[in-house]
Amino acid sequence: MLYRSRLIGFGSYLPKNIITNNDLSKKIDTSDEWIRARTGIRQRHIVSNETCTSMACCAAEQALRYANLSIHDIDAVIVATSTPDALFPTTAVMVQKELGMKKGFAFDVSSACSGFIFALSVADNFIKTGQAKNIILIGSEVYSRILDWSDRRTCVLFGDGAGAVILTAVKPQENNGILGIYLHTDGQYSELLYVEGSPTAQQQNCYVRMNGKEVFRQAVNKLSEVVDEALIKNNLKHKDIDWLVPHQANLRIINGMGKKLKLAPERVIVTVDKHANTSAASIPLALNVAIRDKRIKSGDLVIMETLGGGLSWGSALVRI
Ligand code: COA
Repeated sequence: MLYRSRLIGFGSYLPKNIITNNDLSKKIDTSDEWIRARTGIRQRHIVSNETCTSMACCAAEQALRYANLSIHDIDAVIVATSTPDALFPTTAVMVQKELGMKKGFAFDVSSACSGFIFALSVADNFIKTGQAKNIILIGSEVYSRILDWSDRRTCVLFGDGAGAVILTAVKPQENNGILGIYLHTDGQYSELLYVEGSPTAQQQNCYVRMNGKEVFRQAVNKLSEVVDEALIKNNLKHKDIDWLVPHQANLRIINGMGKKLKLAPERVIVTVDKHANTSAASIPLALNVAIRDKRIKSGDLVIMETLGGGLSWGSALVRI
């Protein structure tokens, strides 16, 4: 390892348009009570004229301001998304264009709700090997475009938004930065959570389909394993962890992971109530909230975990 990656910038964008559970209950056979009891979700942001690219740009600009960097300091843009505006040019290339970045490279990473952690690992490796010094990493999703709004089992669960971080290269002996990232996939579970239809023809409908009960069961098991893996490989105990920043899919899963880590509830960052599941955007959105309200501070040890379609799952240990 030539360098360590440190997170030095944080930003986000949420569409202005908010849809509450009660709003949904006027259109489909559901209720605020059912959604809140099963998931913890109260509302979600849904795009009106925003796009995957426009949200990614806003989040990236905010993260640049936080890091006190200009776009000209950036060597690479990576966007984690399963809902790009087009198959290509990639969202990352469009962000590069919109932000006026004239050098370096940009590309997308797709791994459903695990996209941010998988892309974080890619960015981390570019930095560790000296291939890039500063990287903007964005999770941006427009799930509202791939939801079947007549399927109450899925459409109530998701929302739109974007979150961004900036990674920079620091000396490998520095304490702060990414300590380890642990990734897994298992295609034998591909039918539990998938998109039916293809986005290749933009006019064609494609919809998220999910076996909710089985995804729930797998999430509890696999997230436990991958959190343990991060602790064991870094010789850490539960008490060493300051914050859990989990993928925001379901409050019951999030609380279960907090208990497993023996963390007090106030040490678990929860945004699923306000954002719902924004897939690859959910972790950077949650991280941004807790950094800006000054709960998470420099030097704090954060564990992130996620599970999504594939199935794919992973964890990341980061000292902020
Ligand atoms: N409103 C009201 N009723 C609903 C509903 C909704 N939005 N969605 C489903 N129901 C009904 C079902 O039709 C079913 O009724 P029935 O018993 O008459 O057939 C009943 O509620 C129970 O449905 P079920 O699917 O068994 O509910 P559940 O307790 O498993 O909760 C989830 C459903 C989706 C909330 C839950 O399984 C879950 O959170 N899974 C994990 C999902 C996840 O995290 N996915 C993302 C990973 S990235």
